[in-house]
Amino acid sequence: MKFFIDTANLDQIKEAQSLGVLDGVTTNPSLMSKEGITGKENIMHHYRSICEVVDGDVSAEVIGTSFDDMVKEGEELAALHSQIVVKIPMIKDGIKAIKYFSDKGIKTNCTLVFSIGQALLAAKAGAAYVSPFIGRLDDISTDGLVLIDDIRRVYDNYGFKTEILAASVRHTMHIVNCAKIGADVMTGPLSAIEGLLKHPLTDNGLKKFLEDAQLMEV
Ligand code: E4P
Repeated sequence: MKFFIDTANLDQIKEAQSLGVLDGVTTNPSLMSKEGITGKENIMHHYRSICEVVDGDVSAEVIGTSFDDMVKEGEELAALHSQIVVKIPMIKDGIKAIKYFSDKGIKTNCTLVFSIGQALLAAKAGAAYVSPFIGRLDDISTDGLVLIDDIRRVYDNYGFKTEILAASVRHTMHIVNCAKIGADVMTGPLSAIEGLLKHPLTDNGLKKFLEDAQLMEV
């Protein structure tokens, strides 16, 4: 399972990268504006900076919603760095744009996916990643993990190569459960990734080992 961090915060990206288990980054317009990144030049510069910190794929989202606008923006984003994946919303023109980029060998991440049908369309259009938002489904009392499980089955039925990128991951158990189901990738906050480290028996065991080490004459 690949681990992506879902943020545009460079310090957090560097922190996750230093763990040695980071495979990529996802961003979106909300995450970029949260970091105060505004203006085309700054936005492009920020994406480049993220690519310099991580080794893997970096999703950069288009703002346009027409086919022409998404293609124009996506081409500019893809030209920025070889690690850029063009993130495109699940709308009719978005599917056309995904197909366009897929035919040109440019990787896309189909975002804002909330149903099996949408995931099927994204795969048929040739998206490299499909992003079902599990946290936002949980927010409206719908089990997001069921959607991941269903998409896994559909993709396996037909051997689709599109990777299931569990998005809107909010906490550590989301990651664990996505791994059990077989999501290819998860994207979440640093806190959820670091939560995987924690177990009281580890802390207690280490404390005792260190106490006993004091008794050893080394
Ligand atoms: C995915 O790529 C999105 O950026 C993200 O996971 C959305 O998460 P949220 O629902 O916590 O905003």
